[in-house]
Amino acid sequence: MTTEPTTVHAPDIRKGLAGVVVDYTAISKVNADTNSLLYRGYPVQELAAECSFEEVAYLLWNGELPSKEELAALVALERAGRALDPAVKAVIDALPSTAHPMDICRTAASVLGARHELAEDSSPEANMRKAIDLWAAMPAVVAYDQRRRRGQEIIERRDDLDYSANFLWMTFGEEPADEVVEAFDVSMILYAEHSFNASTFTARVVTSTLSDLHSAVTAAIGALKGPLHGGANEAVMHTFDEIGIRQEEPLEEAATRSKAWMGNALAQKKKVMGFGHRVYKHGDSRVPTMKAALDKMIAHYGRPEILGLYNGLEQAMDEAKAIKPNLDYPAGPTYHLMGFDTPTFTPIFVASRITGWTAHIIEQVASNSLIRPLSEYKGKDQRSVSLREGL
Ligand code: COA
Repeated sequence: MTTEPTTVHAPDIRKGLAGVVVDYTAISKVNADTNSLLYRGYPVQELAAECSFEEVAYLLWNGELPSKEELAALVALERAGRALDPAVKAVIDALPSTAHPMDICRTAASVLGARHELAEDSSPEANMRKAIDLWAAMPAVVAYDQRRRRGQEIIERRDDLDYSANFLWMTFGEEPADEVVEAFDVSMILYAEHSFNASTFTARVVTSTLSDLHSAVTAAIGALKGPLHGGANEAVMHTFDEIGIRQEEPLEEAATRSKAWMGNALAQKKKVMGFGHRVYKHGDSRVPTMKAALDKMIAHYGRPEILGLYNGLEQAMDEAKAIKPNLDYPAGPTYHLMGFDTPTFTPIFVASRITGWTAHIIEQVASNSLIRPLSEYKGKDQRSVSLREGL
């Protein structure tokens, strides 16, 4: 008897899920062809120019910008949740001051989850409340961790300051200049949301098992830590440090040195952090707005050499590979100029992205399907333990 040969279809494997559309979302739209990013239909550039981070957080969660009353209610909840929970402080104090600040954030998110009065409630109302509480609590964690690593005392929150001004106050213990608050607020808006990026997808995967909001955010923080994702803003600063920041160096000289550095890095086939993007191939829609904020900080702090290093790397990468900077590229030096330690940069991203992650968690719960892809096995053929060689 002859048997028909079986046709083997090669599975359609998309490494890194590149190009795969896995679900609908109404939260943000990334259009790589037009380099545009919309949050709930609004261009992010307009939001950065005209709204506060608190308004944008409300928009991401609720789909509409808030009325005065709605904003006041959100701000009241945010201010009420700003203090560093003593239990979280005790856990942070038990960790070595050498621990990466992202590990501190991840641990804090987990502790806050275990202590939340609605811990096991994943109703839309409970998730909304947990999202706001976590958003309100994270700046104190980030600020305190930077201070303790510097051997400084905790600074209590200031309830008369808005979110960004209070964040800077708790970190530095000085009332920040208006331009600095504005630039920081712009960065928070730009970092808030970006569709199905790796950390947001992580949060959605965890949520899809019907796990709780804090577990999903804790996992997302782990995903964001990596240098191919959020960790790139720190890595950009390491590049600047490696090239050498020489205060008062003329802009052109700094640019010449950074161009030379880029030439060497590309000759060695290095990936240069802060450049390239999985979705945007002709430039990141958020960069011009963040670069304008960086320019203001360079003028505010009088540091043209930073612009020289920035321009040199950007030009050399463009000439060699036509790869454009992503948001992390201008954000890193902006935070550096403000006085943040480099390892604190990605935790700032966490504080912002909590809004986007939790909006996605709420959306996932509302229309859930367990996320469980398939894999194609290419290991050993079936064999028997009892027939092992050498027994
Ligand atoms: N530096 C140098 N070369 C880069 C590069 C970078 N930052 N980003 C991409 N490339 C090159 C790759 O080497 C590759 O070249 P090749 O085809 O000659 O091998 C090509 O561009 C495609 O890169 P690839 O990594 O396959 O694209 P991707 O879509 O998978 O990568 C990133 C997207 C973000 C992972 C990638 O650009 C990267 O690693 N960037 C640096 C990290 C970063 O800034 N992350 C923050 C993202 S918001």
